[in-house]
Amino acid sequence: MKLLVTGGAGFIGSNFIRMYLERHADCEIVNLDKLTYAGNLENLRSVEDDPRYRFVRGDICDRKSVDDVMPGIDTVVNFAAETHVDRSIGDPEGFLKTDIFGVHVLLESARANAVGRFVQISTDEVYGPAMGEPLREDAPLNPRNPYAASKAGGEYLARSYFLTYDFPVIVTRGANSVGPNQFPEKVIPLFTTNAIEDKPLPLYGSGEQERDYMHVLDHCTGLDVIIEKGEPGEIYNVGAGNHMKNIEMAKLILKELRKPEELIVHVQDREGHDFRYAMDSTKLEGLGWKPLYNTRDAILDAVRWYVGNPGWWKPLKSGEYREYYEKMYRQRLDEAGASG
Ligand code: NAD
Ligand code: DAU
Repeated sequence: MKLLVTGGAGFIGSNFIRMYLERHADCEIVNLDKLTYAGNLENLRSVEDDPRYRFVRGDICDRKSVDDVMPGIDTVVNFAAETHVDRSIGDPEGFLKTDIFGVHVLLESARANAVGRFVQISTDEVYGPAMGEPLREDAPLNPRNPYAASKAGGEYLARSYFLTYDFPVIVTRGANSVGPNQFPEKVIPLFTTNAIEDKPLPLYGSGEQERDYMHVLDHCTGLDVIIEKGEPGEIYNVGAGNHMKNIEMAKLILKELRKPEELIVHVQDREGHDFRYAMDSTKLEGLGWKPLYNTRDAILDAVRWYVGNPGWWKPLKSGEYREYYEKMYRQRLDEAGASG
């Protein structure tokens, strides 16, 4: 099987590539990645000399780059996206480009090359807040921030290729993943690395919000099962079904690192902050998938990885990102002071 993995230098994509090469001796993977601030070839050092793996730098919005790598591909797995909700609130345009237009370019090229399977990686954020029973795949969508709306646009477009052209598209909706190699703007690596450096943990609003923090390897094994056994035209939720409030998550990280709870600072809430996500993943479990980690173990496994790999995250927290983060942090702190 020859896979085109897009966005493979990011968090989930790189974990997926490493896992897939390990599990499938006879596969070949081409990784097409633009290397935005979130893409990092360090994540793939361990496989860069593997003859079954090839990296190509390119943008999924650029038809030529995509057409160059598409011939001979059996399965496309599209991870490439702008992914950080706060950035989408500040500057949505890049999200619309990559998360919608980029999907269009990939679909056109894949269809022209008669690709056998197209897996569009989407997110539980497209459902919007789930305050009651866990949502199944047929629940209505209610995306509430520009990132979620762009991802919903991308998956609607992908599904339209199945419905209109009978093109074999599968959509997956993953829960909030945690683990090695996640860019330290996302909450678990941000809180962990801030705590290690005795810096404040900026908790949005009350901190009562809940997420289904799922280990990235569980997300990746779910995708592996879907690639093998999923039905074209179908949507699959990938969630471990565990939940934790953000305030509990912050305290768990501090306890593990033996740091004081006083490091938690309540700052201005995220605009339109979705309170809770909850998905029912029975459909995927029916294909034989089972998550291995509960939320607590997933978070602790991630925390230990960041403790053991300062050489990976320290450079990412300096320079351009540091400026962006410190400005945002000060603004949220000021706004919280002004409103409280
Ligand atoms: P990430 O931000 O860590 O990585 C994104 C990768 O895509 C980077 O390597 C980046 O360089 C690349 N990229 C961005 N724009 C590109 C473009 N135009 N062309 C080619 N490459 C481009 O993201 P992640 O957290 O690993 O998420 C991967 C996918 O999974 C995304 O589609 C995201 O929406 C989805 N998802 C993420 C989560 C999560 O918790 N992180 C949960 C569910 C679904
Ligand atoms: O649920 C899947 C989604 O999970 C993915 O589609 C997104 O790509 C991914 O970024 C993630 O989105 P979230 O918004 O849930 O993740 P984030 O790490 O940004 O925030 C998690 C929770 O923590 C959320 O309730 C907001 C809160 N938070 C976040 C940051 C960055 C804080 O309290 N403080 C922070 O500094």
